[in-house]
Amino acid sequence: MSLPAHVRIVEVGPRDGLQNEKAEVPTEVKLELIERLADAGLPAVEATAFVSPKWIPQMADHTEVLERIRRRPGVAYPVLTPNLKGFEAALAAGATEVAVFGAASETFSKRNINCSIAESLQRFEPVIKNALNAKIKVRGYISCVVGCPYEGEVEPGKVGAVAGALHDMGCYEVSLGDTIGVGTPGRTQAMIEACAKRVPAAQLAGHYHDTYGQALANIYASMELGVATFDASVAGLGGCPYAKGASGNVATEDVVYLLHGLGIETGIDLDRLVDTGQWICSFLKRESSSKVARAIIAKRKP
Ligand code: HMG
Ligand code: MG
Repeated sequence: MSLPAHVRIVEVGPRDGLQNEKAEVPTEVKLELIERLADAGLPAVEATAFVSPKWIPQMADHTEVLERIRRRPGVAYPVLTPNLKGFEAALAAGATEVAVFGAASETFSKRNINCSIAESLQRFEPVIKNALNAKIKVRGYISCVVGCPYEGEVEPGKVGAVAGALHDMGCYEVSLGDTIGVGTPGRTQAMIEACAKRVPAAQLAGHYHDTYGQALANIYASMELGVATFDASVAGLGGCPYAKGASGNVATEDVVYLLHGLGIETGIDLDRLVDTGQWICSFLKRESSSKVARAIIAKRKP
């Protein structure tokens, strides 16, 4: 299959990137990050998570964040909603797109959302139904699509089954999370092939963490099978609180550089994105993990 002409990048830095930061990031900084990313041309910026503040304290200001975003026309601001309580709070704060998140590994499901895979699907059903009734789009996430920090290798058929269930319940897209970044192109393709038996490839997204430095290769391998949406995090921010040692998502700057180099359109201004990455890294007092951003910044110096 030929590579897509256009790829949609879903920026997850303000949520997946920040959720693991120990120090509380002020709401103003989160808002500026979201707005700068949208201004750089990102078509979707995952804004926050309506999860329990006891589980993820960094997302405790979810209502204020979602209510106060200066929304750019045409940009989607999805938020995570694990259950009806989270969905109702998101709806009241003006959500127009939400995401439910499950896993292909029982142990991870229990550790992340405190229920089994089957129970999680039961929990998602009313969330998706109420969202669709309110004309709100729902994205579905699956964690541990290649490997699990507790159970090891995950069988592609298990991922396909959860993907099919989310799709059948009404998710417009299923985002496949390699939570601990262990995937290689061959294993990633086997997993996508299993999912594509239940969900059209055009409705699948790749959400690859870059722990083992394989994320760009996995994105390329996924495009070969017709996947044209990828999640990424500016400056490679992030990790997962329930997956020890997991690094951030693949850096958005690196994905944009790869795609533009292949002649694939994204609508994103790489220079503005690099500026945004530099700004948030200086606020967080951390190095960017984007090689592309580091190279561009080094070249800019007189
Ligand atoms: P639980 O403790 O089983 O929930 O948590 P519960 O229904 O038994 O309620 C217990 C308490 O939580 C109650 O409060 C509820 O009101 C409250 P109390 O009476 O004790 O004061 N509660 C809530 N509060 C705020 N918002 C809510 C909510 N629901 C219940 N929505 C729950 C279950 C799912 C809420 C919890 O496990 C949770 O919040 N988990 C979130 C974990 C999380 O956010 N993980 C990171 C995101 S997923 C990820 O990063 C992976 C991804 O990037 C893909 C990849 O890379 O793999 C997407
Ligand atoms: Mg993630």
